[in-house]
Parts: sequence; C-alpha cells; structure tokens
Amino acid sequence: MIILGVESSCDETAAAVIENGTVIRSSVVSSQVATHHKYGGVVPELASRMHVESILPVVTEAISSAGVKMDDIEGVAVTRGPGLIGALLVGFSFAKAFAWARGIPWTGVNHLEGHIYSVLLSDDPPPFPFVVLLASGGHTNLYHVTSFNDFELMGQTRDDAAGEAFDKVAKMLGLGYPGGAVIEKLAQTGEPSAIAFPRSFLEKESFDFSFSGLKSAVLRYIHENNVDIDSPDDKEGIKADIAASFQDSVVDVLSHKLIHAAVSRGVAHIAVAGGVAANGVLRKRLDELISSQPSSDGNGNKSLWSNSPATPGHENKGIFRGNCSFKYESMKLHTPSIELCGDNAAMIAARGYRMILDGNLCNLDHDVFSRTRI
Ligand code: KG4
Ligand code: ZN
Repeated sequence: MIILGVESSCDETAAAVIENGTVIRSSVVSSQVATHHKYGGVVPELASRMHVESILPVVTEAISSAGVKMDDIEGVAVTRGPGLIGALLVGFSFAKAFAWARGIPWTGVNHLEGHIYSVLLSDDPPPFPFVVLLASGGHTNLYHVTSFNDFELMGQTRDDAAGEAFDKVAKMLGLGYPGGAVIEKLAQTGEPSAIAFPRSFLEKESFDFSFSGLKSAVLRYIHENNVDIDSPDDKEGIKADIAASFQDSVVDVLSHKLIHAAVSRGVAHIAVAGGVAANGVLRKRLDELISSQPSSDGNGNKSLWSNSPATPGHENKGIFRGNCSFKYESMKLHTPSIELCGDNAAMIAARGYRMILDGNLCNLDHDVFSRTRI
C-alpha cells in the first residue's frame, strides 16, 4: 500500500511517500528555520503562511521523487496535532481535500506517535516491547511501547522540554535559534566537567523530567561570571565550557532515566526519537552506559544505578543507587537516522499506514488539535 504522509505542525513543511508502512520511497522537508531564526523562535502566523506557500511544491516533489504517479497513492496520513493550530490546518486541509477529491482513505496522526514510529523506520527497528525517549522542542516523554497501537506514557517533563532548554541556553549564549545543533558543536571544544550544573532526577523512581532549574543555573552562572556573550571569539573558551557542561547535565539525566525506565519494565530494547535524539553525545552516552553495565551479583542480576552520576555540589535525593536489577546480558539501543529525528512526514505516513489498516480513519468533520497526551 502506497501512503502519502503530510506534516505541518510547526516550522517544517514535509511530505513523504511510504510503501507498506516501512519502505521510504521519498521524504521531502522544507524548513522555515532561516525565516524564524531572526525572531529567536517560531512565529506562528509566519509559519502558517509559509506552509501555504510550500505545501503544494513539497507534496509534488515527494510524489515525483518517489517514482509514483498521483493515481498510485492509496491513502493519506496527515499530522492532526499537537502543534500550532494555524500551521496544522494547512497540512490537514490539504490532505482532507486531496483524499476527498481522489476518493481514498485518510487519517489524522498524533505527531508524538509519529515520532515514536520514526524508530520503527530505523535500519534496525526494535521488537516490541521497547522503551523510547521522545525528546523534542515541545516534549520530553518516556513511553513503554508494547504494540503498534499501545504507548504507555511513563514520564514527561514538568516544565521545559529538553530541546527547549537547548534553545533557551543557546539564546542566553547569543547563539541564535534553534539551539540544539549549535550547542552540540560549541560543546565539542569545551570541557563537560568544567562547571557543576545541577542534574534534576526528581523523586526516587520518578520518570518525570525538569530542566528549568538547570536553565536558571546557566543564566545565574553567566551573570555571576560576567560572561561576555557577545564575544565572537570566546577566547577563554568559557562559552564552550558552559555549552559542554550544560549538555552533559541534560545527557546524564536523559540517558539514565531512559535506561532506568526500561529496567523498571524489564525491557531490553531502548530507543530515542525527536530532534534531541540527533545529539551525538546523547547517543554515545547511551551506548557507553549499556555496554559498561555494573558488576553482576552472581545470579545474572546487574545493579545499574550504582554508577549513576551524583549532582556535583548538590545533595541528590532522587538518584537511583544499587536498588535496581535486571537480567539482560545487554540492552540494545535503536536510533533513527538523523533525518528522521527532526520533524518529517515519513514517520507520519508510517503511523498513518497502521491506522488505515486498522480502519481508524478521518472524515470531513474531523479537525486538528493543538494539545494532547498519549
Ligand atoms: O522534533 P523536532 O525537530 O521538532 C519538535 O517537534 O519540537 O525537535 C526540535 C528540537 C529543538 O529544540 C532543537 O534545538 C533540538 O530539537 N535539537 C537538538 C539537536 N538538534 C535539534 N538538541 C540537541 N542536540 C542536537 N543535535
Ligand atoms: Zn516533532
């Protein structure tokens, strides 16, 4: 079955053609980042207008580069929410009209479920069950995924999303928007242990996240040390040290919580998704953590959390220490390609394919939604 996917929830207009839910025939993404960059964030009205301009060329290119004809498209999957209402409406109305005009089934996809499906499109997709960390500009969620349709939300951020924290810290350092990739690049020349930024693990056994304290700590550090954020050369490497130390804190929390969540459900397969999942340091840390599991207790049980990092200079109430064991020889990490981490329509088409197979369809009365939870 050939499915056309359409995504327009934020600042990327995207279309993709997918065969049988797994083969990506084409995936086209038109990013508005350059436009929003000068405003330091996404301007919703501008985003909607740009989607209107891009939607037709992007869909046309996706169909032609897939080597299929319009008549070959057997179903349409489009992002229904969450996202910016005006932006969502552009893709949703387009998909509605396209499917109605051609008399083919169509469905509205939850953007977050789409991100989870990006993992299933990776070269080495995990079997069920798996635990996935979805970390993007708007969400930091942990899901226990037990089937194509079952996503248990195990934890989420109580304040800022991880990507949002990257974006805000980049802004504080005068690095512009979006911040994730710029921080990662600058951090390569910095020292991750230079500054003892806090790690918020929250209550013992909690799978929730909190990044607002870290964000405030970075701001405080910049003020107290009179860091010249306008200095382009960063002679003493102070901005690089801040970037590296900040990133180290986020990566520590994300990686330990993901592994702990999998351990708590007795699940051997873990995965990452969303824009922050493109971060190389996060991927490397997860690899290191699962390949250097702490010593066995003799029964094949391994105590994972005794190696958890302590928060430098802070009493850490919530750290998981030696109270958690699991029987796997090793966990396995599954990572989507970098292109599939950011917003794209291939993941939407993959999710929509399953919904269409299940008869979970939309009709002309259906509308978009801005906020949701799965
Ligand atoms: O999934 P995504 O493209 O859009 C949303 O649905 O939000 O995620 C965008 C977020 C931004 O906050 C961006 O700063 C972050 O992902 N991001 C990164 C990296 N690349 C993008 N964060 C950390 N490291 C990166 N390399
Ligand atoms: Zn997204």
